[in-house]
Amino acid sequence: MDVSNENQVKHFFEKSQITHVINCAAYTAVDRAESEKEKADLINHLSVRNLGKICKEKNIKLIHISTDYIFDGTNYEPYREENLTKPQSVYGKTKLDGENALKDLNHGTVIRTSWVYSEFGKNFLKTMLKLGKERDELGIIFDQVGTPTYAKDLAKIILDNLDSIRNEKTEVYHYSNEGVCSWYDFAKAIFELSNISCNVKPLETKEYPTPAKRPSYSLLNKSKIKKDFNIEIPYWRDSLKECLIKLGEIK
Ligand SMILES: NC(=O)c1ccc[n+]([C@@H]2O[C@H](COP(=O)([O-])OP(=O)(O)OC[C@H]3O[C@@H](n4cnc5c(N)ncnc54)[C@H](OP(=O)(O)O)[C@@H]3O)[C@@H](O)[C@H]2O)c1
Repeated sequence: MDVSNENQVKHFFEKSQITHVINCAAYTAVDRAESEKEKADLINHLSVRNLGKICKEKNIKLIHISTDYIFDGTNYEPYREENLTKPQSVYGKTKLDGENALKDLNHGTVIRTSWVYSEFGKNFLKTMLKLGKERDELGIIFDQVGTPTYAKDLAKIILDNLDSIRNEKTEVYHYSNEGVCSWYDFAKAIFELSNISCNVKPLETKEYPTPAKRPSYSLLNKSKIKKDFNIEIPYWRDSLKECLIKLGEIK
């Protein structure tokens, strides 16, 4: 369904027996959002508020995915859930407004994540695999650091912990894989593990200007989710390897 179409959403909830909603729908074109503010707001904020309202009315548990881009990236230690938010882009601002709409309703669990990839859809890993095979050299930004997240790992912790997710008040959690790297390190690891001989040159952010500003540091502290859900989180390179195997890039 189109989450921004109130009638469609209402109809969907009326005809289905739903116990949980995991909202992964979002306007994710970070650069395009700078010139499509209304559309980004509709999907990342107003639609989330609408889903939250319906879920609260019907006592349905809502798990909503949010982003590290709600921070400004000036921290020097991994961001905790309660740290000051200060988005630097329209995308980040609309995602934060979506989180706040759920907080106002006091319903739903927000999971902020970062640098998501998988074998499906479009993402950094798949772009690197394609470009790395086509070109001899690529320039990749080294002065933005964070942690990649394999979507499968995040999906697993959500599905495994549906029963422990409470909705009495809005809780925020941080989740990414373990460890830290720059986009440059991420690209190097992809090529190394997949035996792709493409040279990676480190670029500064200022050498690759984009319409939307991105946080230069977006590490997430995951202590809360690890404690509340009693989980261990895989190291980012191990998960990357697993995804490359699934993609058939390595054995
Ligand atoms: N990718 C990252 O690095 C990253 C980092 C942090 C957080 N996140 C968050 O993770 C979640 C999933 O993002 P993703 O990376 O998987 O991005 P994605 O591939 O762009 O997925 C977003 C999905 O939302 C759907 N969608 C967009 N507008 C919709 C609407 N009006 N109604 C219903 N569905 C709609 C899209 O469908 P179509 O394909 O049909 O348009 C797409 O399947 C989002 O909440 C995003 O903010 C992502």
